[in-house]
Amino acid sequence: MELNEFVHQLDELEKQAVGELSGIQDATALEEIRIKYLGAKSGQFKNVQKSMGALAATDRPAGGKRFNEVKNAIQAAFDEAQNRASQQATKSTGPLADPTLPGARIRLGHVHPITQTIEHLKEIMGRLGFSVTEGPEVEDPWHNFVALNIPDDHPARDPLDNFYLKTAEKNSGATRLLRSQTSTVQIRVMESRQPPVRIISLGRVYRPDEADATHFPMFHQMEGLWVDRGVTMAQLKSVLRLFATSYLGGDVNIRFRPSFFPFTEPSVEVDFWWSGRWIEFGGAGMVDPNVLNAVGYDPEVYTGFAFGLGVERLCMRRHQVTDIRDLYRNDVRFLRQF
Ligand code: PHE
Repeated sequence: MELNEFVHQLDELEKQAVGELSGIQDATALEEIRIKYLGAKSGQFKNVQKSMGALAATDRPAGGKRFNEVKNAIQAAFDEAQNRASQQATKSTGPLADPTLPGARIRLGHVHPITQTIEHLKEIMGRLGFSVTEGPEVEDPWHNFVALNIPDDHPARDPLDNFYLKTAEKNSGATRLLRSQTSTVQIRVMESRQPPVRIISLGRVYRPDEADATHFPMFHQMEGLWVDRGVTMAQLKSVLRLFATSYLGGDVNIRFRPSFFPFTEPSVEVDFWWSGRWIEFGGAGMVDPNVLNAVGYDPEVYTGFAFGLGVERLCMRRHQVTDIRDLYRNDVRFLRQF
């Protein structure tokens, strides 16, 4: 091979490779070019190198010199392109993370304070021998009112005080409402089994109250019911006192104030002595004979007590929460504290 021809090959190769490398911005394209020109097996540079053997011995030093110049030029263009590509990568992904830094802690969710309270209440009442029952939140007037001795014309049935469900009425003619109290579950349980009955029911209830610091249109109640031969009001008081002592801690005093509920007779408001004052936590009383009759229990044989406590109120007192709306705002800065 003539020296001229060899040098011409090298010139062409240099022009082509340096030209292609000058436009390169990213690492993938760069690697393709590296293989094309500098690849150890069949890169174009390798091919030219092979033809150096065909030069006349006197031409080889000149050919070799030019060969090295071109090789260095292409290597320099390659290095420059590689620099550009890595700067481009840093720009788009930011600097590499420092692998010696401690890892970011994964933030875990919390059980909602009301759910925590419910679990706690179930546990305490379970120790006092009460088993947990549940009932539907959409109720019929029989379970929400009639069987609980709340007659047709009673103000508690006022549409302004209840969430009646229009669609149910339209579709089937049946009146349905969101239950306004968990006392509905007493009826369901007593209808389905014979005494002794010793249950609690915990769940949501609904009343169309304007939301403020102490009211919310949805809240939770814990209903307790114990029906057997010879159940007395003294037992009601000691169960509530044991409960309050376990839940609030210390020796909690308890006070009954005379009151009225259609489904209990006598009826009382229940106050706990807590943090230096009397605080109302709910209502209670001896199950009215009319209620026992409605579910087919003989009031001459059986007596019972029932109580209903507000779950939010219990939770709020224990954790010094002053606004019930905080429980339902879903602000994690608040919820994270429990
Ligand atoms: N159901 C009553 C209320 O919602 C509370 C209560 C329950 C009172 C059981 C007496 C007995 O206000």
